[in-house]
Amino acid sequence: MAKYEFPKDFWWGSAASGPQSEGRVAGDGKADNIWDAWYQTAPEKFFNQVGPEKTSMVYQKYQEDISLMKQTGHNSYRTSIQWSRLIPNPFTGEVNPEAVTFYNHLIDDLIAAGIEPFINLYHFDMPMVLQENGGWLNREVVDLYTDYAETCFKLFGDRVKKWFTQNEPIVPVEGGYLYGWHLPDERNLKHGVQVAYHEALASAKAVEKYHALNLGGTIGIILNLMPTYPKDDTNPADVKAAKFVDGFFNRSFLDPAIKGTFPSDIVDWLGEYDLMPIYHQSDLVIIKENTIDLLGVNYYQPRRAAAKEIQVEPEGENGWMPEDFYTVYDMPGKKVNPYRGWEIYEKGIYDALINIKDNYGNIDCFISENGMGVEDEARFINANGQINDDYRIEFIQDHLKWVHKALEEGSHVHGYHMWTCMDNWSWLNAYKNRYGFISVDLDNEAKRTIKKSGYWFKEMTEQNGFND
Ligand code: FCB
Repeated sequence: MAKYEFPKDFWWGSAASGPQSEGRVAGDGKADNIWDAWYQTAPEKFFNQVGPEKTSMVYQKYQEDISLMKQTGHNSYRTSIQWSRLIPNPFTGEVNPEAVTFYNHLIDDLIAAGIEPFINLYHFDMPMVLQENGGWLNREVVDLYTDYAETCFKLFGDRVKKWFTQNEPIVPVEGGYLYGWHLPDERNLKHGVQVAYHEALASAKAVEKYHALNLGGTIGIILNLMPTYPKDDTNPADVKAAKFVDGFFNRSFLDPAIKGTFPSDIVDWLGEYDLMPIYHQSDLVIIKENTIDLLGVNYYQPRRAAAKEIQVEPEGENGWMPEDFYTVYDMPGKKVNPYRGWEIYEKGIYDALINIKDNYGNIDCFISENGMGVEDEARFINANGQINDDYRIEFIQDHLKWVHKALEEGSHVHGYHMWTCMDNWSWLNAYKNRYGFISVDLDNEAKRTIKKSGYWFKEMTEQNGFND
């Protein structure tokens, strides 16, 4: 029997986001973000036509939720402030007092319960008024975002000591400008690159503001790292393709955040294909001088790539796409989550952590999301009304073993957050896949029931590890 013991003070908990857990309540002063607005114009895009206003009611039930977090072994919890709640009109910057009251209560009550709040500033929720002005494509948004970040630091930074500028900045690029699952639902790689660049600049500017305020905490970013493996690691063309994928999807975000520079192979590629973003020389100094203190790593699955013969002209009608430069490799025999379809590759979490240790100065980091989505999870309810999610316990344990190995090899990984606490709304998928430690009965006032994994997590965190 092996023993997996984690360091004292390891951060155990879960992650959520404001837009996915709070939604909006009539009369609370929140303005629309891109999700609220998109649902109004295209409800058919959302699973079962369920939009973001159908929430798990964290806004109303946060006190009960904090007590449930205690019952499931949390010592920390991450969520995000909704920009469109705090500052309904970013052009005036006026703060919504009801939002301040809500976030103050949430933060204070978490701290009183011994749960450290980790606060993220941006989780895919561009305020609609800004999207109408181009969203991240418009450089003006960078400064409006920085003002919003500064407002948050000043309002809550006396108590919140772990801040994150953004969650998964590649996702608005992929969703909004490549594959059509976020507004503005464009297909335009050049715009996507510009958006990624503005996000990186905005993040650095927020880091600069935070450090200037000297509030005694740390600030970082949360990236969904997908270690990328070549189809055949003895074939140089496959290795080259995998390096491109890693560069585009991972290093383009890791490098500016941690090293303050952009990866040179990707910069050369941008130049070669006329994809270079518009930038000011002075931006590069800001990015260089304002790197993060702490990295959040979201890990779900890897990417696999094979070589592709690059054509003289783009293959599709939308101009160059990343897939013109590599082939997605669907590895035969890969392990797949039977209830959701994503690949399960536990070692990827270790590879991501070791990459950070070896190539990114072993910066302080933590697993900020990892989790297992399950479709139609109600089928696993037992006679006591509890979901028997042994598969989730196994999933977490199998990943934690690899996190433990990384720790033993010297990784500065400080915690593990599961996605998510309460089952919550997921972007276009709404409530199709459930991820929580706690189930939410949408037909019954969002009644909460702790799943088997929630009880298991409590026991495991009390012992700071497990035997297997
Ligand atoms: C991540 C997102 C999160 C959630 C999970 C399932 O990529 O950060 O909001 O949707 O996937």
